[in-house]
Amino acid sequence: MKFFLVFLLVTVTYFGQKEVHGFFPPLKCKDNHIVFHNKLRPGSILEINCLEPRVARPYLRHFHRLGFNENPYKIILEWQSLSGKFTVKCNLSHGPNQKFYYNDLQAYSDKASRCGQLRSWIAKVDGIWFTEKYAKPEGWVFGWKTR
Ligand SMILES: *[C@@H]1O[C@H](CO)[C@@H](O)[C@H](O)[C@H]1NC(C)=O
Repeated sequence: MKFFLVFLLVTVTYFGQKEVHGFFPPLKCKDNHIVFHNKLRPGSILEINCLEPRVARPYLRHFHRLGFNENPYKIILEWQSLSGKFTVKCNLSHGPNQKFYYNDLQAYSDKASRCGQLRSWIAKVDGIWFTEKYAKPEGWVFGWKTR
């Protein structure tokens, strides 16, 4: 009888926990950020146009016109609303009639829903720079296309 009670307790504890983990998301999962900086030249406006795939609706559009040296534009990806595998694509442009551009930039891409990720994009005159860590210096990744 004693043995049976222990067995019961262990079983209930084990399956009870499994159920809890199944129903509730892991705690302390920080949101993922995509951040854009405009370091072009005084007077420049960076146009940012992104499509974020969502579980509930097909896409969420993020549009912003960011002035030179303004506070960075931040897209917060709420990990609750993300499916496991997804890509946020953005079109960036600037200059007269948006002469300089880069389309379908994979601003954020993930195969699993990870937490607390940063993707920082810095628009400069010579192209688009990138870093994944605040402490890490950005590196040049793409040149601007022209139309
Ligand atoms: C970016 O531009 C491409 C083609 O020019 C277009 O197909 C795409 O929908 C645009 N993306 C966004 C986020 O507006």
